[in-house]
Amino acid sequence: MPESKEDPMVWQPRSWQQKEALQQPTYPDREAVDRVLERLAQLPPLVTSWEVETLKEQLAEAARGERFLLQGGDCAETFDDCTSPAITSKLKILLQMSLILVHGTKKRIIRVGRFAGQYAKPRSSDSETRDGTTLPSYRGDLVNRNAFTTEDRVPDPKLLLRGYERAALTLNFVRSLVDGGFADLHHPEYWDLGFIEHSPLAAEYEKIVASIGDAIRFMETLAGRPVGQTDRVDFFTSHEGLHLFYEQAQTRQVPHREGWYNLSTHLPWIGMRTAQPEGAHVEFFRGVRNPIGIKIGPGMTDDWLRRLLDILHPDDEPGRLTLIHRFGADQVGEHLPRLIRAVRASGKTVVWCCDPMHGNTQKAGNGIKTRRFDDILTELEQAIDIHAAEGSTLGGVHFELTGDNVTECVGGARRLEEADLKRAYRSQVDPRLNCEQALEMAMLLAQRLSKSAARAQKAARQVASGG
Ligand code: PEP
Ligand code: CO
Repeated sequence: MPESKEDPMVWQPRSWQQKEALQQPTYPDREAVDRVLERLAQLPPLVTSWEVETLKEQLAEAARGERFLLQGGDCAETFDDCTSPAITSKLKILLQMSLILVHGTKKRIIRVGRFAGQYAKPRSSDSETRDGTTLPSYRGDLVNRNAFTTEDRVPDPKLLLRGYERAALTLNFVRSLVDGGFADLHHPEYWDLGFIEHSPLAAEYEKIVASIGDAIRFMETLAGRPVGQTDRVDFFTSHEGLHLFYEQAQTRQVPHREGWYNLSTHLPWIGMRTAQPEGAHVEFFRGVRNPIGIKIGPGMTDDWLRRLLDILHPDDEPGRLTLIHRFGADQVGEHLPRLIRAVRASGKTVVWCCDPMHGNTQKAGNGIKTRRFDDILTELEQAIDIHAAEGSTLGGVHFELTGDNVTECVGGARRLEEADLKRAYRSQVDPRLNCEQALEMAMLLAQRLSKSAARAQKAARQVASGG
């Protein structure tokens, strides 16, 4: 199509190319990239606009405090981990956590995996130098390979297709498991992660499972039929919408709906490093109908956030925008209240989601990147209290976790120490909670949410009774 005929004011999936795009790989052969993108644009979408709209409706409920969002998965998925055990263990831990959260919050949970596309990573430097050799940084399996050789590190556009295929394989398996009854709340025994059996948390978890089983059976006996959606809970997908060519290639118009949908995932988010109002990422996500997330950290000024709200959430469409805040345990108290007020002053509604991982990354004594269980929990607890004090609602949480027994974060019931990190450190990027730490985090989070809700109810009763 001749470029000149297009109205430059009308948003197009490629409009972002007129803006500065940070964190993009430099491909040596642009024609090879174009060939891949053409192919990618012809392949069927990974998700549908119906699913995307359903998620948006559910997120609108989370913004009103009627549902709770649980988003979690790897910092970076790898192609090698596209295996049956890796996918099932992620589903299992997310299902277990969601069961605990249902129990604690008495709300329906929206389950969103950081999977089926979480393959591109922002990096602090474009290159990495080892022993005098400088090569491009590893930017995730969608872009290049982690091994430190020229061949592996030069960005390879074919990996975009391999990533799309892995995402499709992952989604196919997740959908089949869910349709086949794996996510049936009547059968939490399907989600047993062997490791948990021997955990100090096992008894507490079994108690929660039993109590939910009782509640479901009670309701079904009363109703004389299955109630709600207990035999099949949904999973949605999300990833950082970082690699704009990849996102663009899967952005389409669909029959009977207006606008453009990014059908590579249900809930893409804009990372903190690429959230400039004038930048390419904001320009791209301005034009898609998906619900979207934005990561916000201590550097986010009130004015910057206001501009993002103007550009990305102009109509205050329910469920459209999730703000994923990641300040760190030591800074959440300083920054969250002012940003809650800035959003309130805009008159707009968002889902507030706490990512207690990315503000709490530190180097252990042995130089390994880690996070402390207690810092993660402290940030979560503070976020709950701050939202309550500001008359706002924490609508969800965002974790980096795995269903496997890795040793990447320190602390938790088994008191992992820095010396344990080397034993099973498998993340190529950020440290994740292992399955036991994730389960414990969900339990402590559920307790805190339940206490906070009880306090709010009590205060409301006192107001109602004039006391
Ligand atoms: C991430 O979620 O892995 C990430 C890079 O986060 P942030 O943009 O918040 O730093
Ligand atoms: Co990360």
